[in-house]
Amino acid sequence: MALRWGIAGTGAIARGFADALGRLPGAELVAVGSRGRATADEFGEKYGITPHRRYGSYESLAADDDIDIVYVASPHSHHHEHTLLFLESGHGVLCEKPFALNAGQAAEMVATARARGRFLMEAMWSRFLPAYVRLRELVTAGEIGTVLSVEGDFGFRLPMDPTHRLFDPTLGGGALLDLGVYPVSLASMLLGEPSRVAAFGQLGETGVDEHLAVVTSYDSGAFAVAKASLRANLACAGRVTGTAGSMELPAFMHCPDELVVQRAGTTERLHLPAARDGDGGDGAAETAGGGLHHQARHVHERLSSGHLDSDVMPLDETVAIMRTLDAARAQLGVRYPADNA
Ligand SMILES: NC(=O)c1ccc[n+]([C@@H]2O[C@H](COP(=O)([O-])OP(=O)(O)OC[C@H]3O[C@@H](n4cnc5c(N)ncnc54)[C@H](OP(=O)(O)O)[C@@H]3O)[C@@H](O)[C@H]2O)c1
Repeated sequence: MALRWGIAGTGAIARGFADALGRLPGAELVAVGSRGRATADEFGEKYGITPHRRYGSYESLAADDDIDIVYVASPHSHHHEHTLLFLESGHGVLCEKPFALNAGQAAEMVATARARGRFLMEAMWSRFLPAYVRLRELVTAGEIGTVLSVEGDFGFRLPMDPTHRLFDPTLGGGALLDLGVYPVSLASMLLGEPSRVAAFGQLGETGVDEHLAVVTSYDSGAFAVAKASLRANLACAGRVTGTAGSMELPAFMHCPDELVVQRAGTTERLHLPAARDGDGGDGAAETAGGGLHHQARHVHERLSSGHLDSDVMPLDETVAIMRTLDAARAQLGVRYPADNA
């Protein structure tokens, strides 16, 4: 099934995703929306979008009704507003992670998609990568027994810059929402919604979390630990431990090329590259290690089979993940302006 895509935003991940669409059979990138016409033109020129569909505002992109689905690639702070804009103008939406700033926003986005009968999915691209698909298959088949713990960390030392979106509270800055969402989502995928959440961390001078850990526990007795940092280079690895073995997602845990499976005294390294051959140019490889096409292909498959959501990244789970992030953020003491809305 051919799908006509629009992209909202022209930043780093928007470029990566445009590259990914460029090599996905059936995907057509037909329009782009940006806050300015010049950036829309520059992006459109690079990705072959016809000049009259390079829009200098998000509202103009929303008014283009010859689009099947819009990829929202704006900062976290604008996911809610932009997703509602495109849903209400009749488009399906694939919205970047973290899906929203808080669970209230996320629930409203999901309710709007359902009320309007439009496709909606959080772009948690890791779940569609070969290593994550294999991990789910092995867990479901009972290959490592019952999962008892999930650990993951993602962090790097970023020089403090109050204007950078990761440090700016008005853009939803902080390590938890941008990086910690990956291990929190991995734990959710395997263990569901936690019954308890405990968070510890350090805030920086702009008031956002710069170094943190979130421990979650589950009715099953399992627990998970997620760490994220803008102050230190963490291992950026993931580990899933069960009663009969374990699996490691080596760096980077959100886009691994390998799955290391240990059981019954054996270690197996499964080579499962995230990117395709040739994903080496700027764009996808630069921003996300390549592999963004897997989630886009899933969107094509879901829409062509008549679905309005994903069975791999379900909307109710996306809202539950936001609840976990809310609970952690409240304990860390990070508030965004939108939390008062
Ligand atoms: N899946 C992944 O691997 C991955 C990787 C990186 C980021 N992300 C997610 O994607 C989103 C964007 O991240 P990014 O790294 O691409 O950020 P970025 O490079 O800063 O780009 C964000 C873009 O959003 C648009 N925008 C709209 N309103 C804005 C505002 N008020 N302030 C600043 N920019 C605004 C801008 O495009 P215009 O100027 O054209 O309007 C800007 O270029 C984030 O939510 C992030 O978590 C995902």
